[in-house]
Amino acid sequence: MKCVDLLVTGIGRLVTPPGNVPRCGQEMKEIREITDAAVAISQGRIALVGPKQEVHDLLASIEITETIDVCGRMVTPGLVDPHTHLVHGGSREHELALKRSGVPYLDILAQGGGILSSMTSTRAATEQELYDKARRSLNEMLMNGVTTVEAKSGYGLTLEDELKQLRVAKRLNDTHPLDVVSTFMGAHAVPPEYKGHTEAFVDLIINEILPKVAEEGLAEFCDVFCEHGVFSVEQSRRILLAGKRHGLVPKIHADEIEPLGGAGLAGELGAISAEHLLAATDEGLAALAKHGVVPVLLPGTSFNLGLAKHARARDMIDKYELPVALSTDYNPGSCPTESIQLIMMLASLNLKMTPEEILTACTINAAAALGRGHDIGTIEVGKRADLTIFDSPNLAYLPYHFGVNHTFGVIKNGSVIAW
Ligand code: NIG
Ligand code: FE
Repeated sequence: MKCVDLLVTGIGRLVTPPGNVPRCGQEMKEIREITDAAVAISQGRIALVGPKQEVHDLLASIEITETIDVCGRMVTPGLVDPHTHLVHGGSREHELALKRSGVPYLDILAQGGGILSSMTSTRAATEQELYDKARRSLNEMLMNGVTTVEAKSGYGLTLEDELKQLRVAKRLNDTHPLDVVSTFMGAHAVPPEYKGHTEAFVDLIINEILPKVAEEGLAEFCDVFCEHGVFSVEQSRRILLAGKRHGLVPKIHADEIEPLGGAGLAGELGAISAEHLLAATDEGLAALAKHGVVPVLLPGTSFNLGLAKHARARDMIDKYELPVALSTDYNPGSCPTESIQLIMMLASLNLKMTPEEILTACTINAAAALGRGHDIGTIEVGKRADLTIFDSPNLAYLPYHFGVNHTFGVIKNGSVIAW
């Protein structure tokens, strides 16, 4: 190392899971903690990490371009949000009263609202309008301590409108400091012009939309809303296998409302992750464990839909030794929030996860759900220098003191982005 571009010093507590691979079961509790620490960054990557004195001694004869003192604050890996519906037009507060009066989520969708209402707004929006709106959300996420976010399409539901959403996500990745990882989710709902003809819409996705998405290199992953009345297990299998043939790695919205078998399908197809899982059976969870699928839990969604039921995080961790990840599921219907810190609190309250497990779920395991465990998600030499600085005395303080933003600063790829 010839030169250090940025030295972050005066870290009261540096807390990080270890390593490059997802942390399963009890490993999720193992957090490395260094008090009075420092991190040296060179060319956007972590060059040194350790007790402050040791790092300063090792740098004695090395040129340091910039030093920042975080004055005793807590530093974690940059948080990763691995499941969002970031790019969409409009919002759905007009459905709030209906939702609160107890009309179920799938009934609102069946009546032509829900995802289909956002589809109408998304189709009507220009690329620039979608970009401006999603950019504001990305800023919000960044201010919450997030440095990498996944973004799904699925509100266009025509070739042109799906491409429009994905092009916006790509442009955001190119122009915003946050990394935006794209997922094609044309199978999010059946649009009105295909009502009663789901198979024909599945054919359109497989034969026309997917090949174009792949040809333009607009997505890394392919996702399906596998749910009763939306896409069946068989239809999901067809779409995800077609995605695989085009080089897109499968993800599944699985067993959210009914135990349809989405988790089993995730295992069968070797999906990288299975999301929601509130209704997943023991058989489904065993399939995830057997095939190394990351369960991505979205406690903000069950909270906002007013469900009494929650994903079985304790069983997933204690019994099935799964590498649980957490995410906002930010979207205009079931979870209109960008706040990963609210999700941390709900994971503590409703999923009974410990602060250590929550950090692991929002960092290395979330990175693994995006195939990026080797590059982000822990504070290790060689990894991308993505760090979040919290005005928080310790880890437990994050889910404990809720409803406020604890982020003090964010470093992305070695640059101070938000302070
Ligand atoms: O993950 N469940 C399907 N998709 C989203 C909700 C999208 C919406 O309601 O707009 C979810 O919860
Ligand atoms: Fe979702």
